[in-house]
Amino acid sequence: MCGIVGILGKDDVADRLLDGLKRLEYRGYDSAGIATVVDGAIERRRASGKLVNLGKVLAAEPLAGVTGIAHTRWATHGGPTTNNAHPHATDRVALVHNGIIENFKPLREELLARGRKLESQTDTEIVCHLVSEQIEAGLDPVEAVKVVLPRLHGAFALAILFRDHPDMLIGARLGSPLVVGYGDGETYLGSDALALAPLTQRISYLDEGDWVVLTRGGTQVYDQANNPVERAIVNSGASGQLIDKGNHRHFMAKEIYEQPIVVAQTLRAYLQRLEDKVTLPIPDFDLSVIKRVTIVACGTSYYAGMVAKYWFEQFARVAVDIDVASEFRYRAPVMEDGGLMIVISQSGETADTLAALRHAKAEGQTIAAVVNVPTSTMAREADLLLPTHAGPEIGVASTKAFTCQLAVLAALAANLAKAKGRMTPEEEKAIVAHLAEVPAALNDALGRDEAIEAMAGAVAVARDVLYLGRGTDYPLALEGALKLKEISYIHAEGYAAGEMKHGPIALIDEHVPVIVIAPSGPLFEKTVSNMQEVQARGGKVVLISDAEGIAAAGEGCIATIEMPKAHPLIAPIVYAVPVQLLAYHVAVAKGTDVDQPRNLAKSVTVE
Ligand code: G6P
Repeated sequence: MCGIVGILGKDDVADRLLDGLKRLEYRGYDSAGIATVVDGAIERRRASGKLVNLGKVLAAEPLAGVTGIAHTRWATHGGPTTNNAHPHATDRVALVHNGIIENFKPLREELLARGRKLESQTDTEIVCHLVSEQIEAGLDPVEAVKVVLPRLHGAFALAILFRDHPDMLIGARLGSPLVVGYGDGETYLGSDALALAPLTQRISYLDEGDWVVLTRGGTQVYDQANNPVERAIVNSGASGQLIDKGNHRHFMAKEIYEQPIVVAQTLRAYLQRLEDKVTLPIPDFDLSVIKRVTIVACGTSYYAGMVAKYWFEQFARVAVDIDVASEFRYRAPVMEDGGLMIVISQSGETADTLAALRHAKAEGQTIAAVVNVPTSTMAREADLLLPTHAGPEIGVASTKAFTCQLAVLAALAANLAKAKGRMTPEEEKAIVAHLAEVPAALNDALGRDEAIEAMAGAVAVARDVLYLGRGTDYPLALEGALKLKEISYIHAEGYAAGEMKHGPIALIDEHVPVIVIAPSGPLFEKTVSNMQEVQARGGKVVLISDAEGIAAAGEGCIATIEMPKAHPLIAPIVYAVPVQLLAYHVAVAKGTDVDQPRNLAKSVTVE
């Protein structure tokens, strides 16, 4: 999993390759590297760690060359060292790779048996040697790649550079995305349209199994059976501007603070305020035929899906199955005819979610995609696109994408309920009114920032933290725990409050803060009973509730976070803010790298 860029340029390419990598750093930041052809030899610059390190290497030792490839890595095979950094190279071939070559072990043994010297522990270097061998045997690069590609199992996007053909790049994709960009006398390869946005908007998306030869004379795409094919050139519409942090110290803080605006932006696309209607941008699709819903997603997007399950079942009375995407395909899921699969993804590129989408599509399910990146693979492959309008999310820990996903999913639940005859115009009007309150309620919730910052120190010293919630607050408890783990490296778990007594309560002592998410409402008293069970055992509770809830149960807590009163429908959207802010301030107190936490990547493009 990684990001790749290639440029067949008119002028030196190193700076532009580095710029392209900056746009792809969301795919991993374990190491980075660039290769070009200079005076008949392949030259490389590589560095472990974040892209800034490669920038320093390039500043100290600049790299010439008008044709080059570049890579930012999230380590799969082999540690995040300089030696394992891409591009991998022999003296004739350099190569960058996004994906996993699953049969790399037998291929590696084969190469070693033939006396090839391998320098890294990566699966990628194997491909480099396989292509090199063919060239050494006398094949030209196109024939060499044609021989090697069918030998590779797994997922890959490749960009390959050749010492003896400095006016050529070859790209290939299977399972991992790759686009071709067309500039003025230049051509490009990139993991996505965003990477190429400052260079060109003219993009063609390669299909599964495609490979492409870029030369000065033109570009030729081949399909998996090696037939020459045409792939349409479209305008990507991707913005070439690099996003900055504004007045914030971190992207994550900026994105938390953007939520009132971007959620309003998202809701604008789904609410018809004047008519008191909730609509979807898929007017021709008849939701009344939906018999069952399957939701599949990963990470934070999965928790948005968990909240939606409550809504779909409560409002539309449609049964919902939900799975983390990495489990979905491998448990032989039963999907009824006439089912709707909803994939939820900020990036639209997460490999597990994409694989689930394709699996369900092949089984005849209608696919709806709730995605934030409109140019993404999922957005293109789904039958029904339900965009979130969160804008680019840079912080690895997802925040504004989550609340925008919830806004879209609430709109979808209401539409499903309408289609099923389970929502009257009066009820729809009330839902419109509640959803319309969300931006102001989010603003109000952000007003608790200082209070949350003040109590973050008490959590920052903990080794373990528990989050509890019931109903739609249960997924929020999971999301709160995930946020804390991701960016502060504190072990945290989310539990359904009622499940505490079945095991986790054994963990409670005076060193374990327990964050209880409990807006006043129908489930409040039950959650408070569970909270009291924790307190009775010396547990230190932080209660997140509204004034009414805090008045009723705040006594004896080590801290309370008072939220605005929110209708139960919108509470999960509004209560996302304090859990995000708490994780953020704890991470800042601990001094971790908030926007690029260790071992993680924003978009996980390997299974
Ligand atoms: C990664 C990110 C998470 C994100 C998850 C799913 O693990 O670090 O923040 O929730 O992927 O990503 P997606 O783009 O599919 O929503």
